[in-house]
Amino acid sequence: MMRLDRFVAETSGLTRSQAVKMIRAGTVLVNGVPVRKPDLKIDESRETVTVSGQKCEYRRYRYYLLDKPTGVITATNDRKQETVLDLFPREIQRQGIFPVGRLDKDTSGLLLLTNDGEYAHRIISPKSGIEKVYYARVTGELSPQDAERFRAGLILEDGTRCLPAELEIRGVSECLVTVMEGKYHQVRRMLAAVGKPVLTLRRLSIGPLHLDPTLQTGQYRELTEGELCIMFKALHMENMSKNES
Ligand code: URA
Repeated sequence: MMRLDRFVAETSGLTRSQAVKMIRAGTVLVNGVPVRKPDLKIDESRETVTVSGQKCEYRRYRYYLLDKPTGVITATNDRKQETVLDLFPREIQRQGIFPVGRLDKDTSGLLLLTNDGEYAHRIISPKSGIEKVYYARVTGELSPQDAERFRAGLILEDGTRCLPAELEIRGVSECLVTVMEGKYHQVRRMLAAVGKPVLTLRRLSIGPLHLDPTLQTGQYRELTEGELCIMFKALHMENMSKNES
């Protein structure tokens, strides 16, 4: 059971106060009848709610794609620093979304946020074999030997061994790095291990999902049905029934 104004806000993208206004104006129907009480408790899995004729679908799980800017930390809240959750309106924050994995404060690019723990867990786990691709600009000149060391499985300066990874040279000091794991500062530490400290790092893709060129840095959108479908397939979750209340 849920308050009508909250249900309308969460399913339609309206703010809570806009939802209250719509309800009071009589544009919200519950089972075909206008209900002007924002605090009415409804059973969202059984009752049909429409706003201006559009059905509100309750979706338990939400999936967002964010183009993370630098200077923002990958956390849900912080007393001092701006977090990736601060880039979302309160209605969306209340869905209980959290970042899938982590990008450093100085890294920009594709970050997924969801309230689906299983989905997040599978994306992060190296066992799923989900590749993450980063664009990096480094100090120094990249060489085929660097790429060879990535392929062989690098040992970082602290002795940590990495899984084999790909380094594709795109310019004297520019490359694409593909990894399947997400150790702390992984790509920066890998490039440092071959003597090429990172100047700029940007994540371009996670498995089949890519940055959306129509989004500006700092903007987000929900994943499309098509994107969800290919990602569930990649995660072997296609039989799991998502978005049912
Ligand atoms: N590797 C890093 O070093 N930093 C990131 O933010 C992501 C991967």
